[in-house]
Amino acid sequence: MHKPVLVTGASSGIGEAAAVTLARAGFRVFAAARRIEKLKAIEGLGEGRITALALDVTDEGSIAAAAERFKAEGAVLYGLVNNAGISVTGPIEEVPLAEWRAQFETNLFGVVAVTKAFLPAMRAARAGRIVNIGSVSGRLAPPFMGAYAASKHALEGFNDSLRRELAPYGIKVSLIRPGFIHTPFGGPEQEGLSRYVGPGHPYSERVAAFKAWHAKGHPNGAPPSAVADAIAQALTAARPHSRYTVPASVIPPVMLRNLLPSAIVDRAFAATTGIDRRKEAAP
Ligand SMILES: NC(=O)c1ccc[n+]([C@@H]2O[C@H](COP(=O)([O-])OP(=O)(O)OC[C@H]3O[C@@H](n4cnc5c(N)ncnc54)[C@H](OP(=O)(O)O)[C@@H]3O)[C@@H](O)[C@H]2O)c1
Repeated sequence: MHKPVLVTGASSGIGEAAAVTLARAGFRVFAAARRIEKLKAIEGLGEGRITALALDVTDEGSIAAAAERFKAEGAVLYGLVNNAGISVTGPIEEVPLAEWRAQFETNLFGVVAVTKAFLPAMRAARAGRIVNIGSVSGRLAPPFMGAYAASKHALEGFNDSLRRELAPYGIKVSLIRPGFIHTPFGGPEQEGLSRYVGPGHPYSERVAAFKAWHAKGHPNGAPPSAVADAIAQALTAARPHSRYTVPASVIPPVMLRNLLPSAIVDRAFAATTGIDRRKEAAP
């Protein structure tokens, strides 16, 4: 009863929905993020089973402190939900290397570091679940989201290696691939794209077209509760899937990406996002 679960990035969006859903399903939830005041606010939504935990996944000291705090609570982690993430947008050529590194620090190395911190106790217990929040962009890489797509592709590889390494220890590993979800995630993505629209930016017109398409995505996306339900399934099913793609409407594009030649997928991408109708004026 009340198996302990740690959810990273629980101060907003999918992580917040997951923390509340899991607490209401009977898990004892450690809701972790940098904005502790936001976490304190959701403590009250979890029937007394949510504990706020300050955690920056890019800071080893912060991860060690969170792991210590967890130990002090006398809890052995059953579930780890690696959800914290950011999205760096813009043309590959123009996004500064420091931002590429920041993208990977959070979305990949943050996941690796948190997993390494909590795994020894889970392995010793010979039970548990790890749920990594990937993205449809981890299979279908959109233009002007190269840093984000690369980080989520890397996470797919991490997820598969981890699942195969941990199988003998009774720890099951799943990846959730959300499509567009209605959370604040799209705001910084839009701001990022804006920085590359205008005079002097060689991809300006196509970035503007992509930005206009993307602007409709998150507001019309599935609710974060849909992803929270998939996370709950991955944590409770006797035989969890290795992957959950949410919502179901994004399963066909992911499947077609696996079946069709890249040239056709490229044309479909360009047509869907509107970037094929634009020609860049600048050299
Ligand atoms: N929304 C979508 O359409 C969508 C689609 C596919 C995949 N995803 C993935 O779903 C996950 C959650 O996204 P969301 O839509 O819920 O976004 P969100 O509402 O912006 O939430 C992101 C969360 O990540 C946390 N975070 C960011 N950097 C962190 C750090 N260094 N340390 C600890 N926490 C950090 C934030 O908390 P603090 O700022 O308080 O630290 C926040 O709680 C991400 O991995 C994202 O890539 C989202």
